[in-house]
Amino acid sequence: MEDGQQKEKVKPPGFLKPFSLMKVSGRFKAHQDSLPRLPVPPLQQSLDHYLKALQPIVSEEEWAQTKQLVEEFQTSGGVGERLQKGLERRAKKSENWLSEWWLKTAYLQYRQPLVIHSSPGLMLPKQDFMDLQGQLRFAAKLIEGVLDFKAMIDNETLPVEYLGGKPLCMNQYYQILSSCRMPGPKQDTVVNFSKVKKPPLHITVVHNFQFFELDVYHSDGTPLTSDQIFVQLEKIWNSSLQTNKEPVGILTSNHRNSWAKAYNTLIKDKVNRESVRSIQQSIFTMCLDAPMPRVAKEEYLSHVAGQMLHGGGGPLNSGNRWFDKTLQFIVAEDGSCGLVYEHAAAEGPPIISLVDHVMEFTKKPESVRSPMVPLPMPRKLRFNIMPEIKKDIEKAKQNLGIMIQDLDIRLMVFHHFGKDFPKSQKLSPDAFIQVALQLAYYRIYGHACATYESASLRMYHLGRTDTIRSATMESLVFVKAMDDSSMLENQKIELLRRAVQAHRAYTDRAIRGEAFDRHLLGLKLQAIEDLVSMPDIFMDTSYAIAMHFNLSTSQVPAKTDCVMFFGPVVPDGYGVCYNPGAAHINFSVSAYNSCAETNAAHLARSLEKALLDMRALLQGHPWAKL
Ligand code: COA
Repeated sequence: MEDGQQKEKVKPPGFLKPFSLMKVSGRFKAHQDSLPRLPVPPLQQSLDHYLKALQPIVSEEEWAQTKQLVEEFQTSGGVGERLQKGLERRAKKSENWLSEWWLKTAYLQYRQPLVIHSSPGLMLPKQDFMDLQGQLRFAAKLIEGVLDFKAMIDNETLPVEYLGGKPLCMNQYYQILSSCRMPGPKQDTVVNFSKVKKPPLHITVVHNFQFFELDVYHSDGTPLTSDQIFVQLEKIWNSSLQTNKEPVGILTSNHRNSWAKAYNTLIKDKVNRESVRSIQQSIFTMCLDAPMPRVAKEEYLSHVAGQMLHGGGGPLNSGNRWFDKTLQFIVAEDGSCGLVYEHAAAEGPPIISLVDHVMEFTKKPESVRSPMVPLPMPRKLRFNIMPEIKKDIEKAKQNLGIMIQDLDIRLMVFHHFGKDFPKSQKLSPDAFIQVALQLAYYRIYGHACATYESASLRMYHLGRTDTIRSATMESLVFVKAMDDSSMLENQKIELLRRAVQAHRAYTDRAIRGEAFDRHLLGLKLQAIEDLVSMPDIFMDTSYAIAMHFNLSTSQVPAKTDCVMFFGPVVPDGYGVCYNPGAAHINFSVSAYNSCAETNAAHLARSLEKALLDMRALLQGHPWAKL
């Protein structure tokens, strides 16, 4: 994901600017300008932290070898110092030394399909409707809610968020609506249409694989009310009843190189080009899904997660998506709903703020019935499916089918306690959960693994994320001690507290911009840019182990009772996401069926037991008495 540098410049279409280059103005600009710039950490500090982070996951021999390479790298006047100076120069010249690099290496040059591999899904609470009327009413209200949120973005009145008492960069909020990724042969682009001369006034609605352009503003600039949107959705529904349409949207689920090739063929046709352009420029997409096949009650949550993440495959709803679109809401006839979003534009938290706002909005009763003005029929977006494209669609269907078969995903509501319990023990809830994950993993595998947790860098202008490495020596000592019958309970409690505190301390460093992962990535990219040979520390076994994240995790907290999910980042790994409530925690765990060693349900059960055991340990010995 971080390899394969792209030298050629990919131009976005026409007059449009990639979002990172957009100029902004007004109140938003003033806030953005007031934020500090992301610092480049001192070289020695990052290398010391790197060596420390390796200890729980590599052998002693590997560690000794790496230590030597690190010493050579940081010798005075050596390559490390030169690259560090290069980075510092870059930091002086740019708004954020990391953000463009990160956008390219983590997203735009990443060639795996967006589906499962990159785009997170989100499941919303099941709505209590069971028919078409209910589906369209809810979808209409949801659309109205997004437009209500958009008004705050447009007039720059979104309240500034804070983390640890510090104001956060709000840039990602300005990227999630009216934007779309576009495939390229070696590198994609992501284009934001909200700051162009004539910003879009329409959304895309998909039903039975058929796309529609729905204008959501009146000519005087006021948004349609949900009653009016409902009428428009009914029209769309009634004119897309055929179920034998080619699922052209499924092309966007393919490997990026294959999709880029198919895209060029597709848009050679003028009608297709205009339809694609309309989808790309729309504010967001509303997918009106066919009902899912019925499944056993205990399978329901995991099944919906799959539905949101990938659409269920060619015969189901995957053709009811345009996966390049930054934001796609999904509402199915049976009351299940959620979204899938393209990750290049933003992390989960801004998406969640929007979701929290929209879900609150949907609960508001209709105050006045809006006048039923005659509204034009939404425009159907037509596609001419040439034989070559038909072949591409078939291939995309097959590939997606294989990917879906391979995905093992479990949603778990841990209902025994939520973040109130660790708080009552004066422990950080996030760190407590991460230590429980270490215990769950260790109990299955008997060793620790490289673990990734996203930390926000939004304290800094245009900040995205850095890595909290949850496998620490403190967590390893604790997980080993936990099941050691020769250890006293008091000692175990002490080790548990130390592990949690070590994690929290790592988090504090990471959000201050002092974690080492992005710094090392920067040094590596600087070496590529300077055309110097790749330093040995990046060619080392320990580095490969450190970058092989068997556990890829993220906390995405929400007021809404929901959870996000994503696929593992390595073939033998897990993707774990959680939303801790006060009294329960929603978890998602994913793995690949093709890996005999991983099993999502198994890890979920182990995690549940780890959390319960850790609570029992602490409750057996109230901390105040120690
Ligand atoms: N005693 C009592 N309470 C404590 C505590 C302690 N020792 N430590 C923390 N708490 C409280 C906090 O005050 C906070 O209270 P609140 O619920 O009133 O807000 C709560 O517990 C949660 O804190 P904590 O669990 O420590 O986590 P956090 O909210 O600081 O989040 C991260 C930690 C890493 C998730 C956060 O810093 C972050 O970076 N988030 C962004 C991640 C991201 O981008 N994810 C998406 C990727 S797509």
